[in-house]
This record gives sequence, structure tokens and C-alpha cells, in this order.
Amino acid sequence: MRLILLGPPGAGKGTQAQRIVEKFGIPQLSTGDMLRAAVSAGTDVGKRAKAVMDAGKLVSDDIVIAIVSERIDQPDCAKGFILDGFPRTLVQADATDAMLKAKGLDLSKVLEIKVNDEVLADRVSGRYTCANCGAGYHDTNLRPRQEGVCDRCGSTHFKRRPDDNRETVVTRLQAYYKETSPLIGYYHAKGKLASVDGMADIDRVTSDIEKILESA
Ligand code: AP5
Repeated sequence: MRLILLGPPGAGKGTQAQRIVEKFGIPQLSTGDMLRAAVSAGTDVGKRAKAVMDAGKLVSDDIVIAIVSERIDQPDCAKGFILDGFPRTLVQADATDAMLKAKGLDLSKVLEIKVNDEVLADRVSGRYTCANCGAGYHDTNLRPRQEGVCDRCGSTHFKRRPDDNRETVVTRLQAYYKETSPLIGYYHAKGKLASVDGMADIDRVTSDIEKILESA
């Protein structure tokens, strides 16, 4: 199964991707996570991407396409993968088509998570993750069962992203509407698009996605 998750910042792409990983056993390829790893490691790509990401703008297509193309050749992607945050521009969408065709692969589904803009700033500014295993939490919507302890790995260390603040969310949302939202029409025209209501609670969104994937 080869999936794309589409939606604005804070729609729940990362949250749902983690659940699809657990249920279907395919890896989550998040270009945001890959770029943040490059920033932490101080690689050339990371140095070029850092200021752009902190400002909430999009990293250049050539960098991101190269990262994804390399990643989907890894053995753990043989049975499929979830693209989270990629493609994000029409150039990236065309490159994805070409990449998959060249490897003799096809897309199974593109899942759009639809959310009202008003909730996004709260979701993003309240978000944090486990510094050890990456499990995602939220100050009010999704707290660990035991305060200060990760449900998944027991770590007591958590972190927040530098771009997760209300000011940067506005820029990220503008980038989404300008560059990424045209992909909804692009994949609808290819007969690949399915949409879910991302305003529902997290478990409900998961079950709506699972129904779509089980009948795909
Ligand atoms: P990226 O890391 O991809 O960030 P994003 O797209 O802005 O998406 P987010 O991770 O913010 O949101 P999400 O939908 O995953 O939400 P989440 O599930 O965490 O990209 C970061 C930057 O990297 C970009 O700005 C860009 O600079 C660069 N970049 C990345 N890919 C690129 C590309 N392809 N091209 C160019 N540049 C690229 O949910 C948010 C919070 O809400 C969580 O706390 C969660 O618990 C909560 N929540 C989730 N669902 C619900 C729900 N249903 N109800 C209530 N709360 C919920």
C-alpha cells in the first residue's frame, strides 16, 4: 500500500500516520522529520533548510524530491509506505508520479484530512513529542496517560518544534493554500483522492481512514 497524506499544518497527518504504521506495518516517510533530522545532524541539506523551515516556508523542490527518492529505495519500503508532508507542490507531485512509474509502482490512495483553519493554531502550538521515540502529544487534546511519561517508551524527555508558534503557523498556512492545496484537484482528477473529516476526534478519524484503506 502506497499512501499520501494531505492536509494543512496541524490537520493530524503525523498523528494518523503513526496509527497507520502500527495497523498496516508500512513505514511513515515524513519529509518534515527527515529535514529536521538533517538540521540536527548539521548536514549541507540541513544548513540550507533550517532558516526556511523556521520561517514556515517551503524547502526547495529539488532537495525534498532527492531525499524522498533515496528513501523509497530502502528495503523497508518494499511493501509500501505513507508519504506524510510530501508531495507539497505540483512539481513534487509530478516528480512523485515519475518516480513511482520508473520503479514500476502505483499510488494506492491520497487521503486528505480536512480541518477548519480556526483550530490549527491551537493544535500546532499545543503539540509536543517524546524526545526519545517521537510519539506525538498535545497539551489538551492528547496527554500521556501518566503526566510527564511517554506512553510508548517511558521516556520523561519531550520536545517542541521551533516552527510551532502562532506567528509561523500563519505563514505555513499561506504556503499550504498557495502551493499544496492545488494537489487536492490534481489527485481527484486521477481518481485517487479520499477525504476524511479531521475535525472529528482522533480515534474517529483513525477509524474513518481504516475503512477507506480496507476497501481500497
Ligand atoms: P511538516 O513537519 O510536514 O509539518 P506540517 O505539514 O506543517 O504538518 P504538521 O507536522 O505541523 O501537522 P500534522 O498534520 O502532522 O499534525 P499532527 O498530527 O502533529 O513540515 C515542516 C516544515 O518542513 C515545512 O513548513 C517546510 O518548511 C518543510 N517541509 C516539509 N516537507 C516539505 C516538502 N515536501 N516540501 C518543502 N518543504 C517541506 O497534529 C497536530 C496536533 O493536533 C497534535 O498535537 C495532535 O495531538 C493534535 N491532533 C491531531 N489530530 C487531532 C484531532 N482530530 N482532534 C484534536 N487534536 C488533534
